Amino acid sequence: MPTRIAVVGAGPLVGQAHCKILKDLSEDAELACICQRRADDTELSEVLGVPLYTDAEEMAYRERLDGVVIAAPTHVHLAVAKACITGWKRRQADLVESGESGLKALLIEKPICQDLASAVELLNVTEAACVDVLVGHQRRHSAFVKRAQELVTDRNFGPLRGVTMEFSLLKPESYFCKDNPAIEWRRRKGVGGPLLINSIHDLDLMRYITGHEITQVFAMTSSGARGNEVEDSGAVTLTFDHGAVGTLFFTDAAPAPWSYEFTTGENKKYPPVPENHTRDCYHFMGAQRSLGFPSLRSFAYSPELHQKEAGWDCPLTFGHEKVELQDPLRVQMAHFVQVCRGDEKPVCSGRDAVQSLAVVMAVLRSAETGRSVAPCEMLAEVNKAFNSAEGADLGVSPLADVPAGHLKRSSERLSGKATSVPGTKHLDTTVFSDEGYLSECPK
Ligand SMILES: NC(=O)c1ccc[n+]([C@@H]2O[C@H](COP(=O)([O-])OP(=O)(O)OC[C@H]3O[C@@H](n4cnc5c(N)ncnc54)[C@H](O)[C@@H]3O)[C@@H](O)[C@H]2O)c1
Repeated sequence: MPTRIAVVGAGPLVGQAHCKILKDLSEDAELACICQRRADDTELSEVLGVPLYTDAEEMAYRERLDGVVIAAPTHVHLAVAKACITGWKRRQADLVESGESGLKALLIEKPICQDLASAVELLNVTEAACVDVLVGHQRRHSAFVKRAQELVTDRNFGPLRGVTMEFSLLKPESYFCKDNPAIEWRRRKGVGGPLLINSIHDLDLMRYITGHEITQVFAMTSSGARGNEVEDSGAVTLTFDHGAVGTLFFTDAAPAPWSYEFTTGENKKYPPVPENHTRDCYHFMGAQRSLGFPSLRSFAYSPELHQKEAGWDCPLTFGHEKVELQDPLRVQMAHFVQVCRGDEKPVCSGRDAVQSLAVVMAVLRSAETGRSVAPCEMLAEVNKAFNSAEGADLGVSPLADVPAGHLKRSSERLSGKATSVPGTKHLDTTVFSDEGYLSECPK
């Protein structure tokens, strides 16, 4: 029986792409229906040949669904997730004898929520209902990313010295269209802006490719280009859990090709840039070699090529890997179908995505206060608020866990070989146990 999946929020930027992919995966899965904000938004549902709903609870009550994709604006992710679970529970109560397996998983677009408190609530609601969450960090499914992760975490690469990342492009003015209240959220502080919408992808990959957690950030941002409430450009410096350092520069207000989308060519919405195929948007520097991304060109000193000690007097040797270009949104959807069937665990779970959201929250706080901020400080604040809302300090840390699988990729740290980069102040304020759990800053 095909896995039945609904899409809530079938907008032109990403929701409609999910619908199309589901229509193409005809044997494994089917697009059951869509849910939009407006009842007169019928054109798309007619083209797709599926029912249109305007209320996610009603949709989950009326339709037999195995999974729901939530691609509505970020600030409604929590409300939509709750509505889907309530509707499904109502359906379950009415159809007690049907043997229907019911809602198994949600694919929630990134960021999981606009703030950590909402993310805690979302985790609580979904975990209580035994509904899996896969967060739409689709780049984790990219062939470039998978290969880069293998190369960067290989024992012949590190220890990692540092990373640079760049996200530079120009968003057209229509993206912010001031006359359209439905998309006003994209420039609203605390909900929109390129950090929460775009660079969360880059920061997530910083964690995912290196296998290291980000422990401290210092950021400066600017909204000078458009004068919106939200930033349009910024620079972030950060430290990793083993003492290495990294940087991210971002702007959505310059005509530039140095972003993940333009350089990988995975998303056909972005036209090819002449001669951009060799230009990288990320660089990973290890003690033994370095890697450009997405070119997957690596540089090292080969002991066979020279008798002298390795260093700037010797020629660098050069390696070049090739991967097959795939659409990561498609690979992600195939994975989501398996998650709905209970055959795979989410590559980016809700708890894992919360760690990336905490990094963005630390960047925003740093830019606002002018001081460096630890992501774990942001998590601790939410844990504290959660405990006081419960009326007592229960010692519960709802955001403390990182999936063990993610941390195990950090072979350097787990093999005990991680070293601080000479001359780098070690700013690590997190503690890792062998089981791979992240606890908050030691007092
Ligand atoms: N993974 C990616 O590459 C990617 C790309 C773009 C956007 N996103 C994420 O997708 C989400 C949507 O972004 P967008 O720019 O497409 O948003 P949008 O403002 O264009 O809205 C998308 C759709 O959601 C519908 N909608 C709005 N409120 C709704 C509600 N309460 N219930 C049901 N439908 C509702 C609208 O009708 C619209 O069709 C955001 O979280 C964004 O960060 C992810």
